[in-house]
Amino acid sequence: MCGIVGYVGPCDAVPILMDGLHRLEYRGYDSAGVAVYHQGTIHVRKTAGRLERLGELLSAEPISGTPGIAHTRWATHGEPSDANAHPHTDPSGKFAVVHNGIIENYRELRRSLIDLGHSFSSQTDSEVIPHLVAVKRAETGDTLEALRLALKSTRGAYALGLITADEPDTIYAAREGSPLVIGIGEKEYFIASDVPALLNRVSRVIYLNDGEVARLTPEGLTVIDSDGRTVRHAAVPIGIAEEAADRAGFETFMLKEIHEQPRVLRSLLDGHVRNGEEIVFDTGTIDRSFLRRVERIMIVSCGTAFYAGLYGKLLLEHLTEIAVECDLGSEFRYRAPKFDRNTLIIAVSQSGETADTLASVRMARGRGAPVLSICNVPGSTLVRESQAVFYTNAGPEIGVASTKAFTAQLMAFALFTFYLGRLRGEIASTQLQELLGALQRVPDAIHYVLNSTALIRGIADKHHAGPSALYLGRRFNFPTALEGALKNKEISYQHAEGYAAGEMKHGPIALISEYMPVICICTATEDELYEKMLSNVKEVQARHGRIIVVANTGDQAAAELAEDIIYVPKVREEFSPLVNVVALQLLAYYAAQARGNDIDKPRNLAKSVTVE
Ligand code: M6R
Repeated sequence: MCGIVGYVGPCDAVPILMDGLHRLEYRGYDSAGVAVYHQGTIHVRKTAGRLERLGELLSAEPISGTPGIAHTRWATHGEPSDANAHPHTDPSGKFAVVHNGIIENYRELRRSLIDLGHSFSSQTDSEVIPHLVAVKRAETGDTLEALRLALKSTRGAYALGLITADEPDTIYAAREGSPLVIGIGEKEYFIASDVPALLNRVSRVIYLNDGEVARLTPEGLTVIDSDGRTVRHAAVPIGIAEEAADRAGFETFMLKEIHEQPRVLRSLLDGHVRNGEEIVFDTGTIDRSFLRRVERIMIVSCGTAFYAGLYGKLLLEHLTEIAVECDLGSEFRYRAPKFDRNTLIIAVSQSGETADTLASVRMARGRGAPVLSICNVPGSTLVRESQAVFYTNAGPEIGVASTKAFTAQLMAFALFTFYLGRLRGEIASTQLQELLGALQRVPDAIHYVLNSTALIRGIADKHHAGPSALYLGRRFNFPTALEGALKNKEISYQHAEGYAAGEMKHGPIALISEYMPVICICTATEDELYEKMLSNVKEVQARHGRIIVVANTGDQAAAELAEDIIYVPKVREEFSPLVNVVALQLLAYYAAQARGNDIDKPRNLAKSVTVE
């Protein structure tokens, strides 16, 4: 999604803004621009395309000055073009704005501004904002108040930065529904839509709340709420080391993040397991007595986090007596889910800023249901709106395709399930020790898979060219199949379907031919489902599908059916998705590489989807 950077302070803003935009590139974008104040004039440079193109434009037509604002746009209203790129200005060119989010009532606002004689130069919803501010500024004579009033007339979501030709050394910021963070320096301030943009600049930040509007000058900061009352914020440490947002020698962020998984999972275990026999978890403001008696859980999330939710449902129902439902955020909010204050809502999100997940959480809270979030980003909107948080603590995930956040979400579900099971007396202490013993083996098993890179790369090289691929799994590995297929389509652009293997004969079997790679997850060797899974693989074999099997090391029966086999160490079936999915991440990764794709910035995708 769009990225925002802003700066006010003694230095030339342009290099700072460009550096910040580069750090936000992972969010996905299709055009970019900057605006700076210089000697009573706002200078704007913007263009469709990548930041390199903006850099070329700035070399050809240089600008400098301070303060400044900058933006990377991910098109929603209007195609990617120079005109639709941000910053946008009012007709006089005095107010420049960068905006993330969607102004839902922009058509009616635009019509009323046109009636006042305004003309517009883009197709965007965002352009109404500087126009509205100009009108309100003329009425009130105060930009902070003008911005507050202008935003009151909008409906929708925004995070924005504004500079004006009337005020040197001043930058304005506001948020409603889209994230915005203020970085606090020495006689300088920064704004950004995401912390990584600020990592090399500041160590303390303030997270604006919804409805707040801020004025930043080198001398200080003023924040007001939507009713104009002054608000005080305490700065908090940024909490992320700069190296965490570095590629650390890997060719891409995604590959680095795939390799970080054993460490991330080990540290989650270390943080939540005491003496190998007790789970430590802070239930925040959710009463333990509520968790002891809760009979129903609803999980809401999107994309990869939804597949983590499916896994969570399976595990919770497997080990506790609680009935669990799992919904896509974008569906939950528009169906008529039946729940009340006695239902626990679990929201899962890497970013904590996904619009559909947040809307579901707000709906749940409106009905009095307690919300526990599984989230990776401290200070995110989801964290602030939840009564309890299970942090996945995976560090910044920069690759657009989620990897370490997913396995950390699975681990979080496992640990939370154990916690609940013990609290409610549904998991005996000896059983917990066995479960933990098995879970502790997962990081080493992932290491083994990471060492099979050359083999997996060879398999990807062989199968990436076909138009489509099918991923099959059962029970705990059905979500793994879904996630493997999602990874493949996100970065290699090969069409891929994840299916419950038993469901294949009800339709997708029609697709199978000698051109179709079918990735079969067959790791449940001691389970009733193992034989059934092998039968499903035989169904593929009988139709000449190209069979790639993920199986436990040494599994001969699976090897006999497979054209290619990826061996993974045996771990308990419940936890096998954490290991198996790493093989599928690598398979997708090398397929994408073989196809020559930009792996960290896959086309059309945004890292955090802050619009509906
Ligand atoms: O930040 P979130 O976990 O809420 O994001 C949800 C999805 O947008 C995200 O998982 C998306 O599907 C990723 N691109 C998956 O790789």
